[in-house]
Amino acid sequence: MVKPVRKAIFPVAGLGTRFLPATKAIPKEMLPVLNKPLIQYAVEEALDAGIDTFIFIVSEGKEAIKDHFAPSPELESMLEEQGKHDLLALVQGAVLKTGRAAYIIQDQPLGLGHAIWCGRNELDLDNEAVAVILPDDLILNQSGPGCLKQMIEIYQNVGGNLAAVENVPREQTNRYGILDVVSEDGALAKAKGLVEKPDPADAPSTLSIIGRYVLQPEVFTYLDKKERGAGNEIQLTDAMAQTIGHIDFHGFRFEGTRFDCGNQIGFVEANVAFAKAHSTS
Ligand code: G1P
Repeated sequence: MVKPVRKAIFPVAGLGTRFLPATKAIPKEMLPVLNKPLIQYAVEEALDAGIDTFIFIVSEGKEAIKDHFAPSPELESMLEEQGKHDLLALVQGAVLKTGRAAYIIQDQPLGLGHAIWCGRNELDLDNEAVAVILPDDLILNQSGPGCLKQMIEIYQNVGGNLAAVENVPREQTNRYGILDVVSEDGALAKAKGLVEKPDPADAPSTLSIIGRYVLQPEVFTYLDKKERGAGNEIQLTDAMAQTIGHIDFHGFRFEGTRFDCGNQIGFVEANVAFAKAHSTS
């Protein structure tokens, strides 16, 4: 029996400097792809995967994220009175029920591993695994299940640590966590090691981690050590790498197209792709 996955962590404390000045007063996760903010796509993907508790790792100035998932009684009653039921459904569809969302402040930008570690007190680390979604990585799978749902299905069979992966051009390995692959089995690539942002010349493969994970509690034991890695940050990739040997690590080649909404071109491409996917003409 694998440990169940009922909670998801969303690390959203970053400054969004690549989108300044747009992100001066608005969290980058609130930038819209079509009519929905990036963070809502991440939450909907998690809901679709059966997640029932949402842990947001935020920084000061990210209140708009919390507001977005809270009820807006005035707006809702106005839409109700006006009979605008479609719009009301959209507004209410973005509300997370009380008790299902937690907002934890990451008070220092010490890296992705540190952000995930900040969520530890919301977890039952003896009994459950946890999902992680990086909202910058937006994945469109028009005809099938979302990426996290695909992952959790596969996880029921393989257990261990799991991350979404795809191949990237070799010159881009220094932007990603990279797998040192030991064997392949269909959509799964088993790794004997992981390297965070290696130079293209040193990368053990071009198979790159995309921002979806299922993590075993043991990862938190390594995050507890707060060891610094690439960029002098506490890296999730390093903590996962240290569990290899006693916990399997698999990369999962998901169905769907991933857009890197952490950069401007990827964000615009996502908008175009989602517009086309939702176009009725
Ligand atoms: C993070 C992870 C990296 C992963 C990437 C996916 O990097 O550290 O291993 O490949 O997300 O988007 P970041 O994009 O935060 O620099």
